[in-house]
Amino acid sequence: MYVRSKIVVANWKMHKDLGEGLRLATEVIQMLHNQVKDKVQVILLPPFIHLEAISKLLPTAGPIHLGAQNCHEHAFGAFTGEIAAPMLRSVGASFVLIGHSERRHYFGEGSALLAQKVSIALIYGLRPIFCCGEVEQTCTVAWQENFVEEQLATSLFHLSAEQIAQVIVAYEPVWAIGTGRTPTPTQAQAMHQFIRYIIASKYGEEVASSIPILYGGSCDTENARLFFTRPDVDGGLIGKASLIANSFVTIVKSLE
Ligand code: PGA
Repeated sequence: MYVRSKIVVANWKMHKDLGEGLRLATEVIQMLHNQVKDKVQVILLPPFIHLEAISKLLPTAGPIHLGAQNCHEHAFGAFTGEIAAPMLRSVGASFVLIGHSERRHYFGEGSALLAQKVSIALIYGLRPIFCCGEVEQTCTVAWQENFVEEQLATSLFHLSAEQIAQVIVAYEPVWAIGTGRTPTPTQAQAMHQFIRYIIASKYGEEVASSIPILYGGSCDTENARLFFTRPDVDGGLIGKASLIANSFVTIVKSLE
């Protein structure tokens, strides 16, 4: 049977200047050195401007990788202030976060734009970490499922099977991000299973079972293990708790 990777992603958001970022990355690398089990991958998403410096700290062929928090939907051009996928590759990134709820909410990024970003990332060899998740906690399960299904269908389902097999999905209920509130591990598992089912309906079981689906939203040292032991939860997308090396490393180790 195919064993999909277990993955923990650190989303630093707009935190840490260069010196602080280098210190945090150095601590994480030292603490995880030779400590990460087979099939576990760790992905750091620092601010763009730290990527090159942090890439120089990473041992080659280790379990720790680098990614960006966003990219532009075009490969180059007159888009002042933007960063393109091939630029990210050139400074050591191999992953890119796409469709985080903060990008959707504060920067008005919608499904069609996100579909373009996913495509351009894949063309330039970046694996997309695609975020989805319902906005409201109070709506019914059926409503939440429809909402997430629509996000997947409109931004991912233009891909070929080979392409979607490169994507990592992160389920992040928006109401859980940065709030200290979370779904129960049982509720999260049910949504992850649903996401896998939706992908399987379009691309088949084999593709769906190879795609890592991560949980994100107030995932911390206390609750990570409860989520990670569920069969369809393949790891986590960690915001606040990734800003302290000890907490982040504890979360990574709770995957094992
Ligand atoms: P949080 O953020 O862990 O601080 O809730 C998660 C995210 O936004 O990816």
